[in-house]
Amino acid sequence: MRNVLFMLVAITGSVLFSSCDAGNEGAGTSPAANEVSEAKIDSLIALMTLEEKIGMLHASSSFTSGGVPRLNIPELVFSDGPHGVRHEHGRGWHALEGYDDRSTYLPVGISLASTWNQDFGYRYGEVLGNEAKERGKNVLLGPGINILRSPLNGRNFEYMGEDPFLAGAMAVGYVRGLQAQGVAANAKHYAANNQETDRHNIDVQISKRALHEIYFPAFRAVVKDGDIWSIMGAYNKINGQYTTHHEYLNNVVLKGEWGFDGVVISDWASVKDTREALLFGTDIEMGTELLRDFDNPVYEEFYMARPALEMIESGEIDESYVDDKVRRILRLMYRTTALTDHGPGQRNVEEHQQVALEVAREGIVLLKNDGLLPLEKNEIRTLAVIGHNATRLFAERGGSSQVPALYEITPLEGIMNLVGDDVEVVYAEGYEPYYDESLFSDIRGDAASQSRENLRDVELARSANEGLMQEAIELAERADAVIFVGGWIHGHEGMPWGEGTYDAEARDKLNLKLIFGQEELIQRINAANENTAVVLMGGSNVEMENWLPDTRAYVHAWYPGMEGGRALAEILFGEVNPSGKLPMTFANSHEDYPSHSIGEFPGEGTVDYAEGIYVGYRYFDTYERDVFFPFGFGLSYTSFEFSDLNLSVDGSKVRVRATVTNTGDREGAEVAQVYVHAPDASVDRPIRELKGFQKVHLEAGESKTIEVELDESSFSYYHPEELRWVMESGTYQIQVGNSSRDIFLTENVDL
Ligand code: BGC
Repeated sequence: MRNVLFMLVAITGSVLFSSCDAGNEGAGTSPAANEVSEAKIDSLIALMTLEEKIGMLHASSSFTSGGVPRLNIPELVFSDGPHGVRHEHGRGWHALEGYDDRSTYLPVGISLASTWNQDFGYRYGEVLGNEAKERGKNVLLGPGINILRSPLNGRNFEYMGEDPFLAGAMAVGYVRGLQAQGVAANAKHYAANNQETDRHNIDVQISKRALHEIYFPAFRAVVKDGDIWSIMGAYNKINGQYTTHHEYLNNVVLKGEWGFDGVVISDWASVKDTREALLFGTDIEMGTELLRDFDNPVYEEFYMARPALEMIESGEIDESYVDDKVRRILRLMYRTTALTDHGPGQRNVEEHQQVALEVAREGIVLLKNDGLLPLEKNEIRTLAVIGHNATRLFAERGGSSQVPALYEITPLEGIMNLVGDDVEVVYAEGYEPYYDESLFSDIRGDAASQSRENLRDVELARSANEGLMQEAIELAERADAVIFVGGWIHGHEGMPWGEGTYDAEARDKLNLKLIFGQEELIQRINAANENTAVVLMGGSNVEMENWLPDTRAYVHAWYPGMEGGRALAEILFGEVNPSGKLPMTFANSHEDYPSHSIGEFPGEGTVDYAEGIYVGYRYFDTYERDVFFPFGFGLSYTSFEFSDLNLSVDGSKVRVRATVTNTGDREGAEVAQVYVHAPDASVDRPIRELKGFQKVHLEAGESKTIEVELDESSFSYYHPEELRWVMESGTYQIQVGNSSRDIFLTENVDL
């Protein structure tokens, strides 16, 4: 028997190697071209012992899962994260010292979504895949596509905003671009993972309709349209069961209805039960040592290690469940660099930095401008740049999405490079991030498990530094123009995790009040110099009522990546015409958002999503609530007109055509947004829902026709009782505009 097995191993081993050697066809091709031989996978499984199979189902180090050396099956190698390849970890949990792992730091996910440019989804993913491949990774843990339910979520910056259609459309390109490099994408965190507070424990109470209409569609899109090879479960529960081993989420919907044939990977330490993990669709368990002894992980003790082996051996669960998981993992391995050669990767090349620059240019959003912008550098002798964020580096912060950037151009550097010697640039910090260490003496470890009460103390760190403020006002008074750069940060240096609060993993914000006295600072700068432009960074909005009315120009820059400072300067000085559009509604206070006013956030143990499908503009527009800046909104230095709406109907398909004309005197780009409304619906439906969009670049005076295809899915809703998608016959209104509140063309169709 031994000898027979040895021969089979030898044969299979050579099969594996020959597939590597012959695998060049994978490089740069679409996933479909990476045909995987299921027969080969089955014959390999037949050779494996139960122990070897189980060894593939769990972590073997911080970012690898087990291989089978006897059969030349390597470990699978993972890396965070959504906007750049994370620090090299080696096998433990600490970044390897002295290791060259610098890489391209792209604008964060919400910046990508703000471009509304689907080509960028692909190019962004391609950069990540290429760099991950160069660093020997098989799976890149991105894109992050959780819906922005509350502006307080500490990880909103990683995700793609409040609308499921937009998030899905951007993520599909990302997935395709990444996987074309032979690296698996990993959409996360499935599903309804919309807050960081108590993330390991909360139980989301939600209707199936809200899941299917709001929280699932982006995941469905990456599966059905992006052919994604892996999905990450989330930490939270949904209606009583942990999402990572959720029978309905994984077995019924993902692997059943959507036909997903890839791998479900746990979030790090999100497996909580062996039996459920075996039965309900978890394929790989990662990270569990975090909850035990961080520095001495015992991988055999993972839920999907020895306990799983015992459960199979005792006959409690059939081995076919394990085989299915191993089959999925091997399939992913053959699709990726793990077992197929996809050619060499490249890192830190100019083309990648160019993508970072272009995404930043189109992702920055101009929200208010009374004619101050673009600044004319010939008219400025002294320019004051004020604000801590003008010089702060963001790449290596925020939690698991941190990137060891090759470089990062700050706003101050970008501005100085652009104006050159012609303009005297003076800088003042204006405010400083600080905290009182003693407030945090009892906060250690994963901050998410800390009580809300402790976090409340962070509030105390919000007041202004009068000395810095005074210095800034003096500069503002003597300058010809002022650029203030402030907003959120990823966190405080020196706090637990080196991250702290605000836009960071494991914590949510407490409210949207500007931190560190910036509100007063902006008011005083506005009073000191009428030529002041305000630039804010951050993964969401801030309260605006006290400073916006007196502010002449406001630009929201998110976290714009390694070329962000350059892109920002180009926009402020008019070398680039802004074309970013908000992927979320900017209302005044967090309490205005339906997750707070109708549902619960952050809840206590359970979180009631009582607002249902009324998330973001679906709520604000349907219920006519005041907002500062609506979903989809963003200004340009030129103007556009929409005309000639033309609908052609073919069964339940509608082709929407409209003309967009650049009526100003400079080139620019506009996003035509197509919303659908069902006025006669037999169930409650929002006043509009985004179902298509197209970005067009236009020279001055130029017109182009946009074309968007709507199909049955654009008109359907998820029936709350029948639990299936339903398209009712009747009248539908098609609305075309450039934000959810600026609809220029509407027409009805009977379908
Ligand atoms: C995060 C994931 C991340 C993983 C590995 C988890 O805590 O939620 O998004 O990919 O850690 O760093």
